[in-house]
Amino acid sequence: MREAHQDAVSRVSEERLWRRHVEMAAIGAIPGNGVNRAALSKEDIAARKVLIGWARDRNFEVGLDAIGNLFVRRPGHDAAAAPVMTGSHMDSQPRGGRFDGIYGVLAALEALQAIDEAGVKTRRPIELVAWTNEEGGRFPPCTMGSAVHTGARELEDFLDVRDNEGVALRDALAQALAATPGLAQRTLRAPAAAYIEAHIEQGPLLENAGKTIGVVTGIQGLRWYDVEVFGKTDHAGTTPLALRQDALRDAVNIIAALHELTRDATDTVRFTVGRMLVTPNSPNSVASHVLFSVDLRHPDPATIDRLAKAAEATAKNAAKQCKVTVTPTLHDGPCVFDPGVIDAIERAANELKVPSVRLPSGASHDAMYMARVCPTGMIFVPCENGVSHNEAENARPADLAAGARVLTAALLALAND
Ligand code: GLV
Ligand code: MN
Ligand code: MN
Repeated sequence: MREAHQDAVSRVSEERLWRRHVEMAAIGAIPGNGVNRAALSKEDIAARKVLIGWARDRNFEVGLDAIGNLFVRRPGHDAAAAPVMTGSHMDSQPRGGRFDGIYGVLAALEALQAIDEAGVKTRRPIELVAWTNEEGGRFPPCTMGSAVHTGARELEDFLDVRDNEGVALRDALAQALAATPGLAQRTLRAPAAAYIEAHIEQGPLLENAGKTIGVVTGIQGLRWYDVEVFGKTDHAGTTPLALRQDALRDAVNIIAALHELTRDATDTVRFTVGRMLVTPNSPNSVASHVLFSVDLRHPDPATIDRLAKAAEATAKNAAKQCKVTVTPTLHDGPCVFDPGVIDAIERAANELKVPSVRLPSGASHDAMYMARVCPTGMIFVPCENGVSHNEAENARPADLAAGARVLTAALLALAND
């Protein structure tokens, strides 16, 4: 590694990186050491302001695109060169942890700051991105900001999505954009030379293998559906069962049938129903309408296609009393990361003598969409017991800093390409 690059890597500060995690974790803090920072909420806006403040302290230019993705740029010396990008997301699950997403943003800032403090000149700009609404917990589906930025989806597709309180994304987004005025306006579909996302692993492989860095090879396929069951509300005490069109009873039948369909002795298929809206949601009224989510994942494209095709018929056949609709809301991957970026990350880990291992990602990430438009890779660091999407999510400061060092070295390698 060049001396100047070594100098930059040595300026990555474990203490500063940890302190910033602690500061961010206070925004939307919930009992149990967790975080609830829903996309485009007042907590998300507060986190955006803190990030903008840190970026401005270093005189980095801050930009914003039409879906609220935030960009922090350190210029390169070739004005025509596309940036090397790095980042992740600041929104969280409703009962999320202190590291999912925010680590990739803070590691990116740490890399930018370390490179800047070392005064390293790069040919390409290096740009941090904090993607809007990666989690999809408030406004489904997930990875919305990167989908729109890369042109995989149109902004208009999402403006009418509503949260559980009936707030439209259109209004929440307008509020968030207005809350951070005076930023450079960034266009959608801007070219990128490469993208690296740092993230906690969210699984147990690194910890079990005793490795500090996961060099991520790709992301398994993911499909989301909204299943809606249309029944009729009735009196719970008086209406004979035979005369009912009970939407919740049929929803339970459908979910059981989908569990059967996706049963897998190898425990590779991932099938989850995690969200359900019941109307009128009263103990003594028969449910007239149920909407529930389906999250289906598998690394093999043929398997996920087969299951996805069978899911709609299975759901409709399982309903005994009600009409059912199945609406796809997300169709992603699987994706395979770029060999050149994988090599750059692995080489950086080897040069820094940090133990690494190649591994796939079970979770979805914005890197999935970036992989469609530029060479992309990811760096994983361990999280305690593999726990994530849970208040108890935990990671060690030293591992977070090691990931930021590998990120810094890999970004510098790519930014001078
Ligand atoms: C992202 O959080 C995912 O659902 O994998
Ligand atoms: Mn995440
Ligand atoms: Mn997540």
